[in-house]
Amino acid sequence: MSAISIEKSEKLEGKIRVQGSKNEVLPILCATVINGNISIIHNCPRISDVYNTIKILNSIGCKTEWIDDNSLMVNSRNLNDYRVTCNCVRMMRSSIIFAGALVSRCKQAVCSYPGGCVIGERPIDMHIAAFRKMGIKVINNGKGIECIRYKEKNCKIRLRFPSVGATENIILASIIGNQTVYIYNYAKEPEIISLCSFLIKMGGIIDIRKDYIKISGVKKNCLKNVEYCIDSDRIVAATYMFVVAGCKGDVVLEAADIDKLRASADILKSAGVLINSDSNKGIAFEKKYIRIKMKEKLSLKGKVTTGPFPYFPTDMQSPLMALMAGNNTEFLCKETMFENRFKMANELIKMGADIIIKDNKAYIKGKQLHGCRVNASDLRAGAGLVIAGLGAEGRTVIQHADYIYRGYEDIIRDINSIGGNIHIV
Ligand code: EPZ
Repeated sequence: MSAISIEKSEKLEGKIRVQGSKNEVLPILCATVINGNISIIHNCPRISDVYNTIKILNSIGCKTEWIDDNSLMVNSRNLNDYRVTCNCVRMMRSSIIFAGALVSRCKQAVCSYPGGCVIGERPIDMHIAAFRKMGIKVINNGKGIECIRYKEKNCKIRLRFPSVGATENIILASIIGNQTVYIYNYAKEPEIISLCSFLIKMGGIIDIRKDYIKISGVKKNCLKNVEYCIDSDRIVAATYMFVVAGCKGDVVLEAADIDKLRASADILKSAGVLINSDSNKGIAFEKKYIRIKMKEKLSLKGKVTTGPFPYFPTDMQSPLMALMAGNNTEFLCKETMFENRFKMANELIKMGADIIIKDNKAYIKGKQLHGCRVNASDLRAGAGLVIAGLGAEGRTVIQHADYIYRGYEDIIRDINSIGGNIHIV
C-alpha cells in the first residue's frame, strides 16, 4: 500500500484540467455490454476503479483497448458469460450495475455481492425489489444475486429513496425487451442523465421527465455502435476548489461545470472565497471553467446537511470536514446518506483537530493543524486528508493512499502543478 507525504502549501496559482468523472464512466462501462458491439469512451479517467471494471469486462469475453491516453474502446460482440464473479467485483460497489446490463443483453446475470468503501452497510434491497417488479426472478445465493428474466413486464417503480445505483440498474435492465418501465423518485445526479444520453446514442428509448423516467424496451438489433465523451468529475473539481480555499491562491479549473457543484461553491462563497465561472449552457464542458481566488485564512460559522443531488454531496463531506477543521470555523456537518462516514475525524484529531461526533453529526471548531502519520480509510477520506495536510504545520504522511487513486487520476500531479508540495513516499 503506498503512502504520500505533504508539506504545508500556500498561495497556489495556475490551472488544472479536471479529469473525466468516475461515477459517470463506471455505469457507462457496464452499459457497453448491451449493444453487443463497439463503444468508444472518450475522457475516460485512468483510475483503479476503471482498471478493475475493464478486468470484469474482459472476464466475460469483452475486448477492451486504450486507443489513446483517455479513450477506451469496448467490443462486447464476443461476450461469452453473464456471471461477474471475479475478485474485482468485490473491490467496487459499482460492479452490481452489471446485473441490469447483463439482464438486458442475456436475460440473466449472476453477480457477487459488491464491495467498495466501508462508509456504510450499503444494502441492494431497492435493486432487488425493482427487478422482481419487472419480471426478473432474483435469488440471493449468499455470495451474490442470480437474476433471470422470466417475463417482459410493463411496470411503474417508485423508489423509497432516490438511490443512484438502483436507478442505474433499473434503466439498464429495461433497455432491451418488449416492456415499458417508469421510475418515480429516481436519482437526479448528473451521472444518471449522462447514462441516459449514452444509452439513447446507442439506440435506447428513454424519456426523462421531472417526476419520472420512462424506458421503452427495444429489439437487440435496434442498438448500434456508440462513441461518447465523459464529462468532467464534479467531485474532483469540488475537491480542488476546497484545496485552493484552504491554501489561498488564484486557480482556474478547466473543463469544470459550476452547475454541477453549486452546493459546494455556495459554502465557499459564504466563507469569502471568490468564485467565478463560465457555465453558459450552450458551451461544451471542455470550454467551461471555474476560477477560485482566496486571499485570507478561511473563516466561517455555519452548517450543512448532506443529501441526494442537488443537495450537498456526501462525497464532499470528508473534504469539507478537513477544510473546516484546519481553519477559523465553527461548523456543524450532518451526514444523512451513509451511516459510517465520519471515520476520518479520528485521523484529523491526531493532527490536533477539535471535532466531536454525535450520532450523524460532526461538531467542528477549526484551528491550526499539525502534520503527522495518518491513515486513509476510503477514497474521499483520503482526499480530505490531503486538504488537511496542505494546511497543516510540518509534514503529513497519508498511509493507504491507494484509496485515493480509486477516483483521482493523479492528485499529486494536479496539486503540484499549481504550487503544492506533495510526494509519493
Ligand atoms: C453512488 O453510490 C456513488 N457511487 C457514491 O460515490 C455516492 O456517495 C452515492 O451514489 C450517493 O451520491 C457511484 O456512483 C459508483 P445510492 P450508490 O444507491 O449508488 C441506500 C464515491 O466516493 N440504499 O444512491 O451506492 C444506501 O445504503 C462513492 O465516489 C439502500 O438502502 O449510492 C445509501 O444510504 C461513494 N438500498 C443511500 O441509499 C439500496 O438498494 C444512497 O445510496 C440502495 C441504496
